[in-house]
Formats: sequence, structure tokens, C-alpha cells
Amino acid sequence: MMDKKIRKAVFPAAGLGTRFLPATKASPKEMLPLVDKPLIQYSVEEAVECGIDSILIITGRDKTAIEDHFDISFELEQVLLERGKKEMFELVRRVSELAKISYTRQKQALGLGHAIYQARDFVNNEAFAVLLADDVVDAPKRSALRQLIDVYEKYKAPVVATMRVQGEAISRFGVIDVEQIEDRIFRVKDMVEKPKPEEAPSDLAIVGRYIFTPDIFSAIERTDRGAGGEIQITDAMRIMVREGKEFYAVELEGKRHDAGDKLGFLIATVEYALKHEDLADDFKKYLKSLQERL
Ligand code: UTP
Repeated sequence: MMDKKIRKAVFPAAGLGTRFLPATKASPKEMLPLVDKPLIQYSVEEAVECGIDSILIITGRDKTAIEDHFDISFELEQVLLERGKKEMFELVRRVSELAKISYTRQKQALGLGHAIYQARDFVNNEAFAVLLADDVVDAPKRSALRQLIDVYEKYKAPVVATMRVQGEAISRFGVIDVEQIEDRIFRVKDMVEKPKPEEAPSDLAIVGRYIFTPDIFSAIERTDRGAGGEIQITDAMRIMVREGKEFYAVELEGKRHDAGDKLGFLIATVEYALKHEDLADDFKKYLKSLQERL
């Protein structure tokens, strides 16, 4: 079983997105546009580029925006064709052809662990990837998920993505205790969700990319509500680690943006706009003009 390639990916998108209210009142934060694509499209593309062919999106309330985005839009396509906008038509059509996507609903936002648990029938008996679309990782050389898959293929065990976080900010993350085994690769010894800064076992914080084996589901079943009253995936992973299950971590190469947070989202927008081929030059000029005002 563990020798198989990673073919399936799960996208939890049922969180309440309270940090981005009121924008997330009637639409999931995963649909916030980063320049010209919704956040979730970036990570779906990342997964597809890694060879994922089957995707499950876990939705909450107001799921229709995500489903509609990845569906064919006959009316729009028709209008674009009639107006001779072939390029736009292809752009729109390509989104609906990205991957085989199915949906399931998390009825209550009881936490990320609980959201991932909704994927148990979809996953069946295979190792699978989990991507959090609001964690945008700009990694031009090797995508974040590719970095995890490379470790999974070598060690045949679950893998979490991490990055270094200094100071107080560490207490917003799951944090791991590790033994380094290679450049940027670690064996996980323990983990804790949202520790006080002085109790953090390291400066390696878990970010939104994971490879799990199906035994994560029985660990989630045994996980009590933790930080924030939610069923935390970090607590489920910790159960496995404490039972002696091998777990690995990668310190991601690349720049991670927390696009579920207003400031993080603004920073990501500026960074991506500066790399966008149609916008970069004009946007740069505009930013330079701001210098006089700041
Ligand atoms: P966050 O920790 O960012 O929580 O979730 P949130 O509720 O979405 O947002 P805030 O903190 O209130 O602003 C991390 C990921 O887990 C998903 C979210 O959609 C996001 O992709 N999630 C979280 C669920 O799918 N279900 C949950 O119950 C909680």
C-alpha cells in the first residue's frame, strides 16, 4: 500500500474564516482572489502538477461558489465565444478541466481534524495529501507539495510541511519537536498545537501541506477537542507519533503567506501582482509612486 504514488488530495475549505469577516460571511475564504485566481485554484494547480488526479474538497456553508468555480459555465463560455474572446474562453474552460473534483460537507466547523475525517471514504486505503488553500506557498523551484511527496517517496511515512517562526508568533501554530536527519528533513519526535512561546519545543511551525496514511482516521477518532474547542489535526498526529508511528517534517523552501489573515493576504497580493506578467510593470510604477506618500 505505502509504495503507491500519491493520487488523491483533500482540500478542507469549511472553516469559518473569522479573521476575514465580513468578506467571508457568504463566501468561503478559499474563494478570495489572489490577483486573478481564487486561492483554492492555486493549490489545486499545485496538486495537479504533482500528479494528483482525484480531489475532494470539504465544504461548509456556502459551498456553491467553489463548486461553480470548478464546473463548466455554459452561459459564460457561450458569451465569450460569441464575442470572439477565444483566450478568455480557454482560460475559463481550463479551470473546469483541471482535475476530477468531488465534494463533501463538514456539517459543523469542529476543527481541521474533523474536516479531514470527512475524507475517510474518499481516501479508502491510500496515502493522500492535504492542502490548505489559505496557506499560499510561493516555491518556484519545487512546489510545496512536491517537496513533501519527495520525502514521502523516500521514507514511506507521513510528512508535514513546516517553516521557521520566531518569537511570540509561534503560538499560533502547531509546533514540532524533531531530530534532523537531512538538510531540511526531520524525524518528528513530538508535536503540540498552539503552545505558549516559552513551551514551544522548537521554532518549526506546521503549515498547510500534509501527506497522511489512512491510519490518521483512527487517530482522529481518538482525538479529544483541543485548542479552541476544536478537533485539531496536530493532536491526532501526536497520538500517532506517541504510539511510535514514524512521522517526517520538511522545512519548506519558498515563501509562505497566510492568506487567511488580512495582512498576510495583502502581502501575498502584492508579491503575486509583482510577478504577474500583465500587471507587474504598471503595479511596480504605482508602488514606487507611493514612496513619496509614505
Ligand atoms: P483556520 O485555522 O484558518 O480556521 O483553518 P478558519 O476557521 O478557516 O479561519 P479563522 O481562523 O476563523 O479566520 C485552516 C484550514 O482548515 C479548514 C479551513 O477552511 C482552512 O482551510 N477548516 C478549519 C475546516 O475545513 N473545518 C474546520 O472546522 C476548521
